[in-house]
Amino acid sequence: MSWRAWAAECLGEGDWRPAARVAFRLLLLGAILASAGAAMLGSTDRSGRLAVTLAAATWVLFAIEYGARLWTAPEFRPNRPAGEARRAYGTSLQGVVDLLVVLPPVVAALLPVGDGPLLLAELLALVKLARVLPGLGLVAAVFRREARPLFAGLTVLLVLLVLSSGAMYLLERAAQPEVFTSIPRALWWGIVTIASVGYGDMVPMTPGGRIVAGSVMLIGIAMFAVPAGILATGFAEELRRRDFIVTWQAVAKVPLFAKLDAGRIAEISRLLKPRIALSNQALCRRGEQADAMYFILEGEVQVDVTPSPVRLKPGQFFGEIALLNDTTRTATVTAVGECRLLVLGAADFRRLLAEFPDIAADIAKVAEERRPA
Ligand code: CMP
Repeated sequence: MSWRAWAAECLGEGDWRPAARVAFRLLLLGAILASAGAAMLGSTDRSGRLAVTLAAATWVLFAIEYGARLWTAPEFRPNRPAGEARRAYGTSLQGVVDLLVVLPPVVAALLPVGDGPLLLAELLALVKLARVLPGLGLVAAVFRREARPLFAGLTVLLVLLVLSSGAMYLLERAAQPEVFTSIPRALWWGIVTIASVGYGDMVPMTPGGRIVAGSVMLIGIAMFAVPAGILATGFAEELRRRDFIVTWQAVAKVPLFAKLDAGRIAEISRLLKPRIALSNQALCRRGEQADAMYFILEGEVQVDVTPSPVRLKPGQFFGEIALLNDTTRTATVTAVGECRLLVLGAADFRRLLAEFPDIAADIAKVAEERRPA
């Protein structure tokens, strides 16, 4: 592996593996938190030793990271020429954020811009958390997927804001000419009122103004509930979709289903639920009523049959005999180590048999082979 490929592996997103990536991520996480800490300390005393040291150390690390990301960009975009891959990273949102974090200290060293841009850059480093903690990608995914309804909700909110602020200006300007001086100034009243903040610096005095204000307060609460609802459903939907993809990939690996096309596998994925079994956990006991059958994804199980127990491996299944014959369990099955399984409930098992006759025949064949002589 070349040095650049190795560096790209350390900078890569997704899994917390290999070890070098974990180490780099933890270092970056520490630097991000230290950078935010430097901004907070710096706001109380810019020349304080700790603030200066933290700011300098994190700047060096972020500068090296930015350089490394530019250098390794072709590894992440292998089908583009190197220059184009680097330009693509440089102009991406992440690339721009990375640059904005390292640029202000350079500018501040050359020009008299004050400490504002420095503090802002130190705080901006927090945006990098999205890369270090992949779980935060979920938030971005939800916003991307729900962009249309969120935009629609925001548009209605903006229309309400401008209309109510305009009305308030017209109703109040005669009574309070020094407060409601213009529509832009009334917009401040609108924002504070719709958000239910109410600083009290601009208060309607006329009966008409109070009626408008009361209505805006009530509608404002309802309007704020709309994006909250959209985001809540968006999160639930995204989690369900990710679960589904994981299950789909697992189902596709089960030999019994491997010959099915993607659509059919998707249908089956909806019937199967993932489950983890702990070492030595009994998954079914001889003589018990049967309520499900199991597919092994990872790990092994032991079936206690005479004369000697049988081990079943990933790709194999068990618990089908009792369901097929409508009898109790014919053997006790125990997880040997930790196992990852897919569970098919009894009702879904019958649905599967009815809808997939080929699979029903395969399962029946295996059950027949397992029948004691
Ligand atoms: P069931 O009887 O529902 O529950 C116990 C399961 O153990 C059974 O279904 C089979 O899936 C499995 N089983 C029983 N006998 C054997 C065997 N000889 N070899 C492999 N698996 C078996």
